[in-house]
Amino acid sequence: MNNRPIGIFDSGVGGLSVFAELIQLLPDENYIYFGDTLNLPYGNKSFEELVSITSNIFDFFKSKNVKAVVMACNTTSATAYDALKSKYDFKIYPIVQNVSKQIALKNYSKIGVLATNATINSHAYKKEIQKYNPNVQVFEHPCPNWVNIVEHELQMENDSREDIKFHLNEVLKHNPEKIILGCTHYPYLINILSEFAPENIFINPAKYFAQSIFDDLKCNNLINNQKLYEPKFYVSANPEQFKSSSRLFYNVKDVNFPAAAGS
Ligand code: DGL
Repeated sequence: MNNRPIGIFDSGVGGLSVFAELIQLLPDENYIYFGDTLNLPYGNKSFEELVSITSNIFDFFKSKNVKAVVMACNTTSATAYDALKSKYDFKIYPIVQNVSKQIALKNYSKIGVLATNATINSHAYKKEIQKYNPNVQVFEHPCPNWVNIVEHELQMENDSREDIKFHLNEVLKHNPEKIILGCTHYPYLINILSEFAPENIFINPAKYFAQSIFDDLKCNNLINNQKLYEPKFYVSANPEQFKSSSRLFYNVKDVNFPAAAGS
């Protein structure tokens, strides 16, 4: 049981910001990463589309006999998770739900959240954080272009920098103590974000998330003791672009393409 793989997915390279933390804590696991580059950006899709996409990916992981699936994607965690969580017999770890409790217990009084349209419209962060701490004020703001900026490596373009500054300022207006980077792509923009606000204002939920997965696998006796292969990467489109954009968080050398899930 323990040696079965862990599946991890996102719409593209964003989930690698989670994977990079996870592999530090759990280096002996057998990982299968799926980047659904054919369907990105997820953030502008409807609830029905996101449920259908996520269910295809879960079926793909089922065919790989995984013991757990890491939803390294805020958008599908915030939307499709509830609809699908009881339909599979492997463990499912959704990022928003897993990290909100830990962030809520820090007792901040004002928190900003930057995320995709779908995540913001679901109010999942606000609901989950206030479940554990009703006194905290949560200011949510969507950044519809940031995933494309990261996926296509447009960070240094003037238009991108203006867009990043504009959306960051929308949440800074509320004077939050912390700002959650509520999309796994956004940590790729940390250098630019830190030009406009102190770096320590940003919370990259990946560390909290990886720790919670480690704790749960340990508690359920699911930690692996026999690494069978190096992490395997699958994408549903543009393997070369995926390799190129991934570099900040993981040096992906080989990509399996085409992958059936998500397409
Ligand atoms: N990186 C994902 C997230 O955390 C998906 C973003 C997208 O494709 O729009 O929400």
